[in-house]
Amino acid sequence: MTSRSTKKKPAAKKKPAKKRRPATPENNAKSQLYANLVVQLLSLLKGEHDLIANAANFSALLFNSLPNVNWAGFYFLQGEELVLGPFQGNPACVRIPMGKGVCGVAAQQCETIIVPNVHEFPGHIACDVASNSEIVVPLFDGERILGVLDLDSPTIGRFDDQDAEGLNELVTVFVAHEEGLGL
Ligand code: SME
Repeated sequence: MTSRSTKKKPAAKKKPAKKRRPATPENNAKSQLYANLVVQLLSLLKGEHDLIANAANFSALLFNSLPNVNWAGFYFLQGEELVLGPFQGNPACVRIPMGKGVCGVAAQQCETIIVPNVHEFPGHIACDVASNSEIVVPLFDGERILGVLDLDSPTIGRFDDQDAEGLNELVTVFVAHEEGLGL
C-alpha cells in the first residue's frame, strides 16, 4: 500500500503530531495559509449552527483557498456507511461502506490518511478521473467518529504532513463549533 498515515498507533482519537519543520519559505507560507483559514472559518461559522450550511461554506472555503484541489467535501457516518455531505467539485459517489476506499479506511482506522498516488491505493474509489492524490481527515466528537473530510488533487503527492496538521486543526474548530454536529 502506498498510502502513509500521519500517525501510526492507536489512540482513540488519532491526530497528526505537531512537527517541528525547517522555516523554509514554502513551509512558512503553508503554515500562514492554514492560520488564515482558521480565522476565515471562525468568521464563516460565527452565529450559525446549521450543519449543512456550515459544512457547505467550509468546503467552499477549502476548495477556493487551497491550490491544486479538484474536490473538497464531507462524508458523514450513518450506521455503517459514509454518506456524501456538502462538497465542491464534480458529483461523487454517495455511499461508502466503512473500511472501503480511502474514506472508509480513514474512518474505520480513525486516522488521517495521505495518499500520494490514488492509483496505487488498493480499493481507492475513483469519483473524478482528474484526481491523482488525496487526503482524508476523520471528524470526531470525543472518541466517536462522525465522518470524514476528503480532499482530492490532480497533482501527485499534493498533500503532506503540514496539510494533515492544518486540516485537522480546521476540522477540530468545525466540530467544536457544531457541538458534535448533532450526528
Ligand atoms: N476517493 C474516495 C472517494 C470519494 S471521492 O474522492 C470524492 C475514496 O477512495 O474513498
